[in-house]
Amino acid sequence: MTPPLHGHRRIRLGMNVDHVATVRNARGSAWPDPLRAALLAEAAGADGITAHLREDRRHIRDDDIEALMAALSVPLNFECAATAEMQAIALRHKPHAVCLVPEKREERTTEGGLDVAADQNRLTDYIAPLRAAGCRVSMFINHDPRQIEASARIGAAVVELHTGLYSELLAEGHDALAERELAGLRAGAELAAAAGLEVHAGHGLTYENVEPIAAIPELVELNIGHFLIGEAIFRGLGPAIEEMRRRIDAARGMAS
Ligand code: PXP
Repeated sequence: MTPPLHGHRRIRLGMNVDHVATVRNARGSAWPDPLRAALLAEAAGADGITAHLREDRRHIRDDDIEALMAALSVPLNFECAATAEMQAIALRHKPHAVCLVPEKREERTTEGGLDVAADQNRLTDYIAPLRAAGCRVSMFINHDPRQIEASARIGAAVVELHTGLYSELLAEGHDALAERELAGLRAGAELAAAAGLEVHAGHGLTYENVEPIAAIPELVELNIGHFLIGEAIFRGLGPAIEEMRRRIDAARGMAS
């Protein structure tokens, strides 16, 4: 059987620069600079840059968003919680994409997806001005059909499927459970694309676990941060990104 054409499309790689800012903030200095990392990532073939402005500003700060917006040639995916403050910031900068994520102060990273189904009316109103400003609005969700259908209903353009649980299960050696989670991600991607949503994925992706995800035919973009920043310590950011690119392309049967 001939595989569907979209399965061969090159996946966009979004580089998340949050943890360059984490290292900078550990010393309260000006370096390493997330903008410098973003420009290097761009030069190494990243198709977009992602930055999460958290309420507590623990990594990316307001001036980072300003600098990224001013200097990038590739699109910025602005990640934030669905608060009034973040909406105002997004409307001021009008980034290419706004990805809404759940945020809890005590969490180490974004745990679980956004509950779009439980907050449909508010989120419909919340994203309306962002859509009117030309931002592609993305919902960071688990592969639960209820969340996918709710995202389509409220008028989001994109869903980003949370791959954190899949990554964790594999890392802990729970291969059968990871396979089941992967099947859920595949079904979610298919359902989302059928509902007219653009499908992205991310969280916890590494060289070891990225290929089965990148092989999901409906996926258009992967957003990867923490692993690549860590890997950059050993091989440099450019080569770290190029190796990820190679693995993603290999999963699609493409040469990089
Ligand atoms: N996508 C979203 C929506 C995220 O919140 C994050 C983490 O900030 C990522 C992708 C990247 O995850 P990681 O840093 O684990 O690669």
